Amino acid sequence: MSALTVDNLHKSRDGQEPLAAITAYDYTFARLADEAGVDILLVGDTVGMVVQGESTTLPVTLDQMVYHTRCVTRGRSRALVVADLPFRAYKSSPAQALDSATRLMAEGGCEMVKLEGGAPMVETVAFLQDRDIPVMGHLGLTPQSVHQFGGFRVQGREPERAAALVEEAMDMEQAGARALLLEAVPRDVARRVTESVSIPVIGIGAGRDCDGQVLVLHDALGLFEGFQPRFAKQYLDGAATVREAIGSFCQEVRSGAFPTKEHSFE
Ligand code: KIV
Ligand code: NA
Repeated sequence: MSALTVDNLHKSRDGQEPLAAITAYDYTFARLADEAGVDILLVGDTVGMVVQGESTTLPVTLDQMVYHTRCVTRGRSRALVVADLPFRAYKSSPAQALDSATRLMAEGGCEMVKLEGGAPMVETVAFLQDRDIPVMGHLGLTPQSVHQFGGFRVQGREPERAAALVEEAMDMEQAGARALLLEAVPRDVARRVTESVSIPVIGIGAGRDCDGQVLVLHDALGLFEGFQPRFAKQYLDGAATVREAIGSFCQEVRSGAFPTKEHSFE
């Protein structure tokens, strides 16, 4: 269990610092991020893209999410772990969502699950909340809707869509959602959403007025050289660093410089 609890998630307007969240998919990185002080570890279905090499998050299975969630919860001590319900594991019915969420919590060990979608998911959120599953709603650019959207595009630019987003956020809160994730919406729309609800709103590509920020680990570490949205700030040139390190290893093996005495049993 994490030291932080769902009740610890707060609004910035309560005079508190914004929440810092990052994705994790395995024990080693979960542990490093937890030690670095992250508040929330998100086991995102982006695992499909940055770990599995798929072009969308759609192929990710519930079994895979349970496995990665377990790996992550073993690595953390402080951070709250939120796990994504994958595309095919919750949209049929609230009962299907409950079965899937229960596996993520009971087998994976997370404290909260995240699901994508607005109005059609309100009933599901209430159903889960009433059955001891804390839910984070995901609004704006919902990557599982990629084929509906016709690509990964900024959402809520039109005034009607912006107003609908505010409505959806309020409906999610009403249904019992404990937090929201807001992806790729204009800053002023994100600010309106954040001000309209009393649950914390974690943003990605949603400007600085949210109650917290999340990044995909492989983007933040500069490891993923595929599609990079402009909000994906790199804090490390990970790809070059890793290639250089492994390149050095290859070179030393080929030249005979590795292993030496200190790396051998004489
Ligand atoms: O799966 C994921 O990584 C997400 C992002 C929005 C952080 O949901
Ligand atoms: Na996700």
